[in-house]
Amino acid sequence: ATERTLSIIKPDAVAKNAIGDIISRFEKAGLKVVAAKMLHLSEEKAGGFYAEHKERPFFKDLVGFMTSGPVVVQVLEGEDAIAKNRELMGATNPKEAAPGTIRADFAETIDANAVHGSDSPASAEREVAYFFSADEICPR
Ligand code: CMP
Repeated sequence: ATERTLSIIKPDAVAKNAIGDIISRFEKAGLKVVAAKMLHLSEEKAGGFYAEHKERPFFKDLVGFMTSGPVVVQVLEGEDAIAKNRELMGATNPKEAAPGTIRADFAETIDANAVHGSDSPASAEREVAYFFSADEICPR
């Protein structure tokens, strides 16, 4: 089915000038960018986004990292977009990510792992709405 998923290009990948390379991988895989913006997240905005991890030991570092520089948030649309994006990203820990995936090629650590992608239809719906209002999404 056609789905939408939220993608974030994280501060490490933005700092590496890899925005275009990463978006190019989405487009070459048949995903369409239907919304995009660059943001420097506040602690509150990053903490709210990752609220489900609030009790995890890595939460503070995660919020610190995600607020350390600008990010590019996008809505990707396409057939099985959620799973397709997760395949393109590779495992959360770049050391376990398959060769040729975004995290294998652009990330070094589990904290600075280049990209985020929604992990289920329910989280995609929440995450897209967390960053974009309906009039900021351009169906195409
Ligand atoms: P992301 O997909 O953005 O979701 C939560 C992030 O927490 C994850 O990517 C990692 O960058 C980061 N993180 C740090 N340590 C861990 C861990 N042990 N398990 C899962 N995620 C972690």
